[in-house]
Amino acid sequence: MKLAVATGGATALSACLRAADEPVPRGDDPETLPDGQHRWNEFLATDDASNHELPRHHLFLSLDLVTDGVPTDDDRDAVASAMATLDRAYEWSHAGVLSSLAYTPAYFARFDADLAYPLPEPRRLSPFETPEFDTQDALLHLASDRSDALLEAEQALLGEQDQMNGIDVETPLSDVLSVSNRRTGFMGAGMPAERQGEVTGIPAGGPVPEESPLFMGFKAGFRKNQATEDAVTVDEGPFAGGTTKHLATIRQRLDDWYEEQNFEEQVMEMFSPLHAERGLVEGAGENLGDFSGVDDEIVETIREQARDYGRVGHAQKAARANRDADGNPLLLRRHVESTDDGEASLHFPSLQTRIESFDAVREAMNGSDLTDVPTIRQRVNNGILEYIFVKRRGNYLVPPRSVRALPTPTGDR
Ligand code: HEM
Repeated sequence: MKLAVATGGATALSACLRAADEPVPRGDDPETLPDGQHRWNEFLATDDASNHELPRHHLFLSLDLVTDGVPTDDDRDAVASAMATLDRAYEWSHAGVLSSLAYTPAYFARFDADLAYPLPEPRRLSPFETPEFDTQDALLHLASDRSDALLEAEQALLGEQDQMNGIDVETPLSDVLSVSNRRTGFMGAGMPAERQGEVTGIPAGGPVPEESPLFMGFKAGFRKNQATEDAVTVDEGPFAGGTTKHLATIRQRLDDWYEEQNFEEQVMEMFSPLHAERGLVEGAGENLGDFSGVDDEIVETIREQARDYGRVGHAQKAARANRDADGNPLLLRRHVESTDDGEASLHFPSLQTRIESFDAVREAMNGSDLTDVPTIRQRVNNGILEYIFVKRRGNYLVPPRSVRALPTPTGDR
């Protein structure tokens, strides 16, 4: 059961269905759903500190049009029909299925017209990475607490099954799109510890703390360190109401993280040296409430901290580029852990109005500007860069729901 979503297919689905005891709630009238496909927050559970919690299971399906050239109106109708069935079949919630369908620059390049919104091709974002790029047409992100719902939705969208949650599928997505890459993820305290023995990248002995939602032992996504959905929403033009998404797939190798760093050193490298000095983080960081503690002082004194403690933290570095003029975060991170390919890894979707904001945060996280401090090297004592390896990058436009089915570059039908 633990690996059902990672494995996928009919056998995994029937195992999940056998184990399921509660019905999956059906969706309301799709008209009542938010136009922004990324507007998940008001439907997400929150923890005691009002941080949003992501669903437990995730699927990222890369999709390619089965025909060359520009999609036809019939293709568009087929995708619209398949997605409308998904919306009707499952409640837009943890207990049902949340979704978003996004498109690459490669997809828009099929058309003669220019895309009416800036969407750069994916590229290397650090001198020490050699990622592959998502050149497929589209990406469907599905998320649910119910692995049975997620697997059933996938099977039905791919035409392997006639119904979704008891509703007939008139047109499966697979009539026009085929899956060229399937990624899976999970999020929830305890889930990484439960899976740590099954993957490479985690040393023996079960070091991942039981209460942690991430393989690295901490919690991420504090409300005040995340952009609001409004802040990442495109506000004008044909794609107003939508957003952009960067998706990175990252492998983790945590031997040295767990075998050479004590807790205090981990806090220094994840948050900041001052977080460790002041004892701000307990355990996975639940005690931080709704703010990571990465404030102006932590950010502005990063050089002094590098000199005094010989290291810099991941969050303090990234924060340098993650604030607008009023000091509010620019990126909405919705990353999840993964055991794909038997490796401890993560899928890192980040939402922002413009991809360039993501690129700038990643550059700040690279910390190349700090390597003149003698102890700071490009990947050593430099946040978490020693332990993470970028495998894939993709950039996407997430159109508003009204034009989510094979949009044209101008948003016209
Ligand atoms: C294994 C990979 C990663 C882990 C375990 C991780 C973990 C964390 C943690 C624990 C925090 C502090 C809490 C929070 O504010 O959420 C944080 C902050 C942050 N991380 Fe990561 N992160 C990872 C990769 C990345 C990547 C690839 C980026 C992309 C550039 C990134 C961007 C950020 C940003 C923007 C912040 C918030 C800083 C701020 O503005 O306060 N992280 N991360």
